[in-house]
Amino acid sequence: MKILAFETTCDETSAAVLEGGVLRSNSVFSQIPLHRRYGGVVPELASRAHLEKIPFVLGSALAAAGIKTPLKKGGIGAVAFSRGPGLPGALMVGRVAAEAASELSGAPLIGVNHLEGHLLACEFSGGRTDRRLEFPLLALIVSGGHTEIWHARGYGDYHVLGRTRDDAAGEAFDKVAKLLGLPYPGGPAVEKEAAGARGKGPLFPRPFMPGTADFSFSGLKTAVSYHLAARLGADFYLAGKRLPAADRARVCRAFQDAAVETLVKKTADAARALGLKRIAVGGGVSANGALRAAFAALKGFEVRFSEKAYCSDNAAMVALCALRRLESAGFSNSLKVAPELANPGWKAGRRKAGVTSGRKKS
Ligand code: KG4
Ligand code: ZN
Repeated sequence: MKILAFETTCDETSAAVLEGGVLRSNSVFSQIPLHRRYGGVVPELASRAHLEKIPFVLGSALAAAGIKTPLKKGGIGAVAFSRGPGLPGALMVGRVAAEAASELSGAPLIGVNHLEGHLLACEFSGGRTDRRLEFPLLALIVSGGHTEIWHARGYGDYHVLGRTRDDAAGEAFDKVAKLLGLPYPGGPAVEKEAAGARGKGPLFPRPFMPGTADFSFSGLKTAVSYHLAARLGADFYLAGKRLPAADRARVCRAFQDAAVETLVKKTADAARALGLKRIAVGGGVSANGALRAAFAALKGFEVRFSEKAYCSDNAAMVALCALRRLESAGFSNSLKVAPELANPGWKAGRRKAGVTSGRKKS
């Protein structure tokens, strides 16, 4: 069966075709150059760019998978899309494209949770989906918009143990990069700078927040800002004052060390508390080499990451979620799949979708 999937939650427009566990195509148009001059994603520009690019992205995904256009009845077995969480306008574009493809092909429509996509992306291996995750496991989702720890008990059966109370990990990387005058997205830029750092840098706090699996990264970001203000003057940002390159690299390494140590310790603590030996890490920040190395060095755990090509947003992971949903026969063929503007884990009544909140017990 061929599954056509769409991903438009933030600043990547993507369509993919998965057939029988083999990824036939995964077209991704990145809007990064469009948003770079603003130092972050501008939601309205993102929606418009999705609308403009989705026909081309879809066309190239279908062509690469050998699917004829216009879509015909029976040409596809299922149509999947990221229904959230994400930017409302951006989500709408993927959803409408998926509805149209479903209508034309007569295939059922499957709304997928984007964060589940980041987790299941760990199953791709050389374009195949047979490197299955083994449950139960502890999942860490680290992206530009989310930082969450889940107790994953099976496909679609996730219990949210903790999440960020303020900035997401990727957001902290992006904002620190901005303070330092580095380009968007900040994660890869900070990682590159940190790799070239020599000598001792400042020591930033580790926001471990004992007693909870929640995260908080805004204080760490503020600590970087205070350090820069002490070095360059309180008006450093608006006055365009920037550190010399060698100092900037040391600040990047010091920030990255603090963020990585916090993510790894809190994840390992949560896994130990539940007696879990398996950890899976997904989302854009999981591409970070220092984070991967720190998890690899953890004793007593088997840690899985997705291949780097599937860390950031892509439709392949959305198709894979749909495949697992179809395999477990719990899917919707209704056109009335509501877009989710927030993580469904935080809404009572969404528990049927398998994502439950660690806080509300009802
Ligand atoms: O998962 P993703 O592509 O989009 C969201 O769902 O948000 O994640 C994007 C985030 C950005 O904040 C970006 O700076 C961060 O992932 N990121 C990284 C790295 N590559 C991307 N953060 C740290 N190190 C990286 N190498
Ligand atoms: Zn994402």
